[in-house]
Amino acid sequence: MSVTDPDPVPVYELRDVSKTYELGGGRVHAVREVTATIAAGDAVAVAGPSGSGKTTLLQLLGGLDRPTSGSVLFEGRDMSTMGDGDLGALRLRTFGFVFQQFNLIPTLTAAQNVEVALAPRGGRAADRRSAVLGLLDSVGLASRGDHLPSKLSGGEQQRVAIARALANEPHVLLADEPTGNLDSETGAEIIEVLLSLSAEGRRTVVVVTHDADVAARAHRIVRMHDGRIVPSDELAPATIGSHS
Ligand SMILES: Nc1ncnc2c1ncn2[C@@H]1O[C@H](COP(=O)(O)OP(=O)(O)OP(=O)(O)O)[C@@H](O)[C@H]1O
Ligand SMILES: [Mg+2]
Repeated sequence: MSVTDPDPVPVYELRDVSKTYELGGGRVHAVREVTATIAAGDAVAVAGPSGSGKTTLLQLLGGLDRPTSGSVLFEGRDMSTMGDGDLGALRLRTFGFVFQQFNLIPTLTAAQNVEVALAPRGGRAADRRSAVLGLLDSVGLASRGDHLPSKLSGGEQQRVAIARALANEPHVLLADEPTGNLDSETGAEIIEVLLSLSAEGRRTVVVVTHDADVAARAHRIVRMHDGRIVPSDELAPATIGSHS
C-alpha cells in the first residue's frame, strides 16, 4: 500500500454497543458498552465464560439482532439503523454463518447441501456444480461430495457446513462454537480451515469459543466477561481463554 492511501475502513466498528433483554420484569445486560474495531482480514477469537455475551455479540455482528443502544458499523454503514431489507441483504450476501450444530439437511448429499446455498443466485446448473466442487475443495472435502451427512464424520460435516457458509462469498465468516461438538484434534483441524479462509482475499473470520487452544490459534483474542470486553492489557496470553 502506498503512503498516500488513507487508512482502510475497518470491517467493523462498534461504538458503545449494549444489548439488553427484558425478561419477566427483569433486565439482562447481555452486552455492555462494547467499543471495538475489527480490521479486514483479521481472524478474531471471542472467548469468555458461559453467559458472558459471546453469542449475543456475534449476533450483533451478523445482523441477526440489533443493539439496544450504540452503533455497529459494518464497512462504514450503521447496521443498528439500517432498514430490515438492507440488513437482510447483508446477511444473505455478505455474512457466512457456522454454528456448533452443523444443521445439514440429512436427505441431501454433501454437495447438494452446499448447492442449496448457491441456488438463490440462479445461473446454469453446470456452473453451480463446479462452484460446489470448488467450495468442497477449499475445505478439503472434494472427494466426499456424494456422501450423505450420516456417512460423514463430525469434522467432515462441519467442513460441509463451512463450504455452505462460503457459497455467497461472504466478506465475513462468523462461527459460534464451531468445534463444540468435535473432539479436540478434529476441532483443531476445523479451526485451521477457518483461519486459512481468513488468509484468503482479506476475508474476516470471527470465532466464538470456550476453548483456549482454539482461541490461541487466532490472530487476536477478545475476551468477554459479564457483557464487557476485558481490556487486553489485563491479560497474560497464557491465561487467555482458560475455563472459568
Ligand atoms: N433471547 C434472550 N432473552 C433473554 N436473555 C438472553 C437472551 N439471549 C441471551 N440472553 C442472556 O444474555 C446473557 C449472554 O448470553 P449469551 O448467549 O450471549 O452468552 P454466551 O457467552 O454465548 O454463553 P455460552 O458460552 O453459554 O454460549 C446471558 O445471561 C443469557 O442468559
Ligand atoms: Mg453462546
